Amino acid sequence: MERILGDLISERNHKRVYVHDGIITKVFDHNFYHGYNVMREASIQQFVMESGLPVPKVYDVFQVGDDWAFTSQEIKGRTLESIIEADPEHKKQHVVKMLQAHIRLLSKLCKNNFLPDLKAKVKRYIEEASLDPSQRYDIQLKLEKFPNHLNICHGDIYPHNIMVTDDGTFYILDWAHCSKGNATADIVNTYLMFLIDGEPKIADIYLREFSKKSYTSMSYIKGWVAVLSAAYLTRVNDEKKKEILLKNIDSVTY
Ligand SMILES: Nc1ncnc2c1ncn2[C@@H]1O[C@H](COP(=O)(O)OP(=O)(O)OP(=O)(O)O)[C@@H](O)[C@H]1O
Ligand SMILES: [Mg+2]
Repeated sequence: MERILGDLISERNHKRVYVHDGIITKVFDHNFYHGYNVMREASIQQFVMESGLPVPKVYDVFQVGDDWAFTSQEIKGRTLESIIEADPEHKKQHVVKMLQAHIRLLSKLCKNNFLPDLKAKVKRYIEEASLDPSQRYDIQLKLEKFPNHLNICHGDIYPHNIMVTDDGTFYILDWAHCSKGNATADIVNTYLMFLIDGEPKIADIYLREFSKKSYTSMSYIKGWVAVLSAAYLTRVNDEKKKEILLKNIDSVTY
């Protein structure tokens, strides 16, 4: 059966997104994604939707030629990224609202083994990072000491992955990096994304507001900043960005 994909609305990172009649189809280039990658993302998205969060419902997984694709409910609204672009003077207020949605998401727990473990994932990244052995050892030790929580962590909360509807609901997209683990780690992940993106003020607001709203101490949060900066090293090529991350690692006192 020939499927109608509809209008192309986004194309990046070897993924194309189409919309037709209230249905979104996300098509993954087979040169970069296996069928099981696509099924995994679709099943995680459905899992999180069924845990009661504002996330688009998944309908089905199928093939488009050699590529794999999945369909989901179209969320009618705008991405938070485009809202901020159109209203840059209120960026801080928009980001604080994003943080509130992020904290709501993190209040959900995954009590089974469906989602991968965040600490195990971070551990693998740290093993791959170019760090000197004693530094790696310190960071690994620090990671081990953090409590093993069961919060649903998205792993990529950023304005381009949030759709805001007319009634102000923040729907969260893109569940490929989801895991279960420590909520502070997911907040710090977003902090690092802002920092790497050249937005240190916004990054700082994100951490401080989280600290205030969740009664989490800044020194505990900074511990996660050091550990996740080490984990992040493998994902950046730019030397300036690497420097920012290395500074975060060094600034931690043991
Ligand atoms: N369910 C949806 N409803 C409305 N728009 C959507 C939906 N899913 C995706 N979009 C639109 O398509 C864009 C890209 O979608 P998505 O974030 O899922 O993929 P991606 O960014 O290409 O993938 P990734 O972030 O994994 O690299 C979104 O920013 C949004 O504009
Ligand atoms: Mg995205």
